Amino acid sequence: MVTVRAPATSANLGSGFDVFGVALSHPADIITVEKAPETTIDVTGAGSEYIPEDPDKNTVGAVAEELDAPAHIQIDKGVRPASGLGSSAASAAGAAVALNELYDRGHSREELVPIAAEGEAVVSGEAHDDNVAPAIMGGFTIATDSGVTKVDAEIPLVACLPEIVVSTRDARRVVPEGTSVTHMVETVGNAATLTTGMHRDDPELVGEGMYDSVVTPARAKLIDGYDEVREAAFEAGATGVTISGAGPTVIAACTAPAQRDVGLAMIDAFESHGANARVYQTKIGHGARIF
Ligand code: HSE
Repeated sequence: MVTVRAPATSANLGSGFDVFGVALSHPADIITVEKAPETTIDVTGAGSEYIPEDPDKNTVGAVAEELDAPAHIQIDKGVRPASGLGSSAASAAGAAVALNELYDRGHSREELVPIAAEGEAVVSGEAHDDNVAPAIMGGFTIATDSGVTKVDAEIPLVACLPEIVVSTRDARRVVPEGTSVTHMVETVGNAATLTTGMHRDDPELVGEGMYDSVVTPARAKLIDGYDEVREAAFEAGATGVTISGAGPTVIAACTAPAQRDVGLAMIDAFESHGANARVYQTKIGHGARIF
């Protein structure tokens, strides 16, 4: 039997749409695998009632298939589905790391990324590496067709999850099909600033680089109160604010002393728009860990 803790993640970070991601120190899924003649799945925990246990429909079933590693897989969800916090990626990443160990497949962490991404495709319709890469490798990751680059950083983050559901499929439908050279130049500058900020562990530079004027404004329309929550977070001391993944979680970078105020301000702003919200005071953390 192998048990793995697989972290929540936040993809995009504004300027790095479908490329940037960070592992969060919490919340996390706990995945336990045991060899079995065929794959069976049990799901408990946050939002488990919405997650299919049929291996053909669950993200971890596809991972077991990819690794030719049938198992009984127990998933204890700490990451709510449809939250923008990489819920399906956490389960896929945890299963990939656990089954690789259980069956002694010998894949490196980087090799497990596309395998876990195939699992993600079962629920999102497309294989994205930007959540599974940090869930497996930890830190800040840059996932491109050439592979994954990782930077270890310890930026404090506040993730505010309202009781709103936004599906990744819906959020991808509103992404603009093209953009102007002006926006492209701005995005390249912001992405480079953010990456430099990660190397320097500098929340100001990371926050500055999170600004995005292409995808985020289109998706903000799906999150009632987004502009007010963003404004409230900045007023409370955030250095950068954007949508986490496909939403509805809103994620803020800040310094550690500002974390509490930023979290409270974001909750208040969502509540004034009629949505209860919870906050994770977190930071960039490790990838999936075998117990
Ligand atoms: N980069 C993806 C998106 C993450 O924002 O749609 C969610 O799978």
